[in-house]
Amino acid sequence: MNSQACLRELAASIGVSIGCQPDLQAGERLPSAAGEALREFDAMASNAFHWCALQPEGPGLWEWSRADAVVDWAETRGMALRGHALLWYQMLPGWLTECSGTRTVERHLRAHVAAVVSRYRGRVASWDVANEVIMIPDGRADGIRRDFLHHHFGERYLDMAFEEAAAADPGAELVLNEALLTHRDQEPQREAMLELVGRLVGRGVPLGACGIQGHLHWDDLQPMGPLDAKATARLLHHLGGLGLATLVTELDVFDAAFPPDQEERDAAVAGTYAEFLSAILAEPSLRSIVFWGLGDERSWYNTYVRRVLPDRIPGGEWRSRPLLFDGAYHRKPAYFAVASTLRKFMLRRNGTPQAQAAPVAA
Ligand code: XIL
Repeated sequence: MNSQACLRELAASIGVSIGCQPDLQAGERLPSAAGEALREFDAMASNAFHWCALQPEGPGLWEWSRADAVVDWAETRGMALRGHALLWYQMLPGWLTECSGTRTVERHLRAHVAAVVSRYRGRVASWDVANEVIMIPDGRADGIRRDFLHHHFGERYLDMAFEEAAAADPGAELVLNEALLTHRDQEPQREAMLELVGRLVGRGVPLGACGIQGHLHWDDLQPMGPLDAKATARLLHHLGGLGLATLVTELDVFDAAFPPDQEERDAAVAGTYAEFLSAILAEPSLRSIVFWGLGDERSWYNTYVRRVLPDRIPGGEWRSRPLLFDGAYHRKPAYFAVASTLRKFMLRRNGTPQAQAAPVAA
């Protein structure tokens, strides 16, 4: 350990794992600065595990190479891996959504989950078994999203997926991962999640953890309101009360509404991280925090969102700065805000002299 404790050391001192989603491209060599930035984390998530990526052409026609490489890569670096995501309505292969027979769809679903989780048994520590299951504007009283799987099974598809995953790797952490939970006007989403999780736990579905995505200030064209970190903390606490671990799985700060001046914008992003983490770090069920990216340049706001939803990005030249490291993987004010918030909690919990070893703002 050098003279400055890194994020994973600070987080470990309060019993939390800290990760990122480095968005690795197949076979690429990372710049050394990225390698150094990665050493801040003890966990990583990867979106190499979507159904349409693993079985793009048809049932049993597997495409394992990218996922295999990610698993090897994480293992070589000693990073606990989160597989994202076994079931997500946006990433189902076309051949599946063209199936009309419910029994056939069930067979495919069970076979898919069983094959993926057993292939990486003991090597993928945590799975997003289901992603973004709730969608209030879809208008159902229970808030569950009206999608292909729900159309066939109601919410029973969750039972099937969690059961198959638990049977395939009893040691893996099985997660229900949800979006749109962190802002004031998202109370109905929080309530629907709590109710859903209560039902799943009540009927013995083997889920072990709940993920809160944490795309702070990302306006998903739904009523959102200001960040409500306390409401998020209450949600985590209630989920913990149901006997589940909680995770923040996709943390970043969308900065489109912040001042255009870079210094002011970076300060606002840093302040948002500090506000959010200050509210949730005391929650005993909180087990891990994963940032949705490593360096700003590759953030999904600059890649996926810019490409798929260009009108959500302020202007042609505008680049989002939502993460802890800039495009060259240098630490930003957000990094120092996260480090000092972790340090504050470490001192509160342990009162150790390690405070001397914590990072200071550059
Ligand atoms: C984004 C990723 O960063 C892209 O690479 C991907 O292709 C599409 O979506 N919620 C999620 C993530 O669960 O999968 C999304 O990630 C961001 C929103």
